[in-house]
Amino acid sequence: MGGAYQMHVAATFLLLAAIASIAAAFDPSPLQDFCVAIDDPKLGVFVNGKFCKDPMQAKADDFTFSGLDMAGNTSNAVGSNVTLVNVDRLKGLNTLGISLARIDYAPYGGLNPPHTHPRATEILVVVKGSLYVGFVTSNPPKLFTKTLNVGDVFVFPIGLIHFQLNVADTNAIAFAGLSSQNPGTITIANAIFGSDPAINHDVLTKAFQVDKNVVDYLQKQFWPEN
Ligand SMILES: *[C@@H]1O[C@H](CO)[C@@H](O)[C@H](O)[C@H]1NC(C)=O
Ligand SMILES: *[C@@H]1O[C@H](CO)[C@@H](O)[C@H](O)[C@H]1NC(C)=O
Repeated sequence: MGGAYQMHVAATFLLLAAIASIAAAFDPSPLQDFCVAIDDPKLGVFVNGKFCKDPMQAKADDFTFSGLDMAGNTSNAVGSNVTLVNVDRLKGLNTLGISLARIDYAPYGGLNPPHTHPRATEILVVVKGSLYVGFVTSNPPKLFTKTLNVGDVFVFPIGLIHFQLNVADTNAIAFAGLSSQNPGTITIANAIFGSDPAINHDVLTKAFQVDKNVVDYLQKQFWPEN
């Protein structure tokens, strides 16, 4: 009886080990937009993510960032400012799959414009003011919105287009956790009309069903990279 039980436990363990090894056989998730292979490792800049420091040389400062008490300057075209603490600014985040942002919004319509994070889900908490927030699903596009006040939390699922608009007459402040050391941000208007070099008119006039002069106008605007 005991022997059969032990065999059962051993078989279960082997099955779990087999499942784990299958899961580990997948390619890792990308930690940056792309990582073109090179043949000479001496010419490499990073692997997937950053190279690791010798753990014996790590210091408390490697795990510290200061300055999120400071408001970002919102005197720009959209009236918002994102201060992102990702692996570039907090080296200890490397390989940990998390980062943090402070977002400031100017009174009367400060906007964190529609954007996506290709590598992260975002969870946001309002600590000052009132924000109208939302995200749009993959096709067919369905909009989910909510007006948030102090203490309210909202989650923007990975990859989906989302935004936050200040709907009060005071400045607003939010903090957001992101599930990547390097979430990446694609600001929709900036990516489409502010790319370098510019996207061909034939692509944009047909995609947006507008005249060439509308595309010209949009391409001449300055698009902040929030
Ligand atoms: C955000 O605020 C910082 C600090 O005030 C400033 O240096 C930066 O230019 C601002 N960014 C934008 C897009 O306005
Ligand atoms: C904020 O940015 C604006 C525009 O760049 C600039 O004129 C202003 O001095 C900045 N404010 C602070 C407090 O740095």
